[in-house]
Amino acid sequence: MPRPNAPSARRASAPRILAVVNQKGGVGKTTTAVNLAASVAAAEQRTLIVDMDPQGNASSGVGVKARGLELTVYDALIGRAKLRDVIVPTDVPGLMIAPATQDLVAAELELVDDPERAMRLKKVLAEALAEESFDYVFIDCPPSLGLLTVNALAAADRVLVPLQCEYYALEGLTHLMATIDRVKNGINPTLGVQGVVLTMFDSRNNLAHQVAEEVRRHFHVFEAVIPRNVRLSEAPSHGKPVILYDIQSKGAQGYLSLARELLQEDAAAGSAASQVRARQGGAS
Ligand SMILES: Nc1ncnc2c1ncn2[C@@H]1O[C@H](COP(=O)(O)OP(=O)(O)O)[C@@H](O)[C@H]1O
Ligand SMILES: [Mg+2]
Repeated sequence: MPRPNAPSARRASAPRILAVVNQKGGVGKTTTAVNLAASVAAAEQRTLIVDMDPQGNASSGVGVKARGLELTVYDALIGRAKLRDVIVPTDVPGLMIAPATQDLVAAELELVDDPERAMRLKKVLAEALAEESFDYVFIDCPPSLGLLTVNALAAADRVLVPLQCEYYALEGLTHLMATIDRVKNGINPTLGVQGVVLTMFDSRNNLAHQVAEEVRRHFHVFEAVIPRNVRLSEAPSHGKPVILYDIQSKGAQGYLSLARELLQEDAAAGSAASQVRARQGGAS
């Protein structure tokens, strides 16, 4: 019998898997993946970050240094290791990460002849999740719509799109939604878009407000808006999510609000099955 309080006994259900995607670089994908994951973990949800970007910024952002690593996501994708053995803990209780390094660049080339190459992450993640239970998985994607991002979209239930409110933001968004539709029509029919997260928002900038309004007309946009905040850009150099670096900062508060909103949406969307699950969890 598992102990009632053992982490692996807490949730019998499948975790929610979110891919953090935008083909544009520098829009706040990694900042969102790291800080939303940390905020969700702070709400006592067992959370995993999967770093699918060879730049490894999510890994260094939670204090995992490339040099000390024996195994990374690359090893799991090419079938040389189990993803479970790649996962390491972070300083945030309940937050783990499957880290990546530059090696990951090679995965795209090495998998080119594999007919199942788009499904590698889905497969290894499913194996890992069968052995270790998580409530949330956030997949940080590289700034492209190449094979690594397609793997993330194949493995995910839903997509989170960080968006910087600039002039061309909507154009990029349209292109991204077309890619998501292609994935839905092909390898992952149940993929959905959870919503757009407005990042680096400058409320004194009129254009930012106009772009935000336009995006809201077409997509579900989270009410929690992430302001431009220097603490968010400083935290990664300390290897910490912002809630461990300066929890009072506007940036930290923004991601904590976003986490609350996400958890509320998920609770509201919860099926009868998840209500039963919650009752079982409460009873144990
Ligand atoms: N809300 C914010 N306020 C200030 N700087 C931010 C904010 N979000 C991200 N940054 C900084 O902007 C840069 C790009 O963000 P990042 O999350 O790495 O984007 P991406 O992963 O999409 O390339 C990083 O230096 C990051 O620290
Ligand atoms: Mg990034």
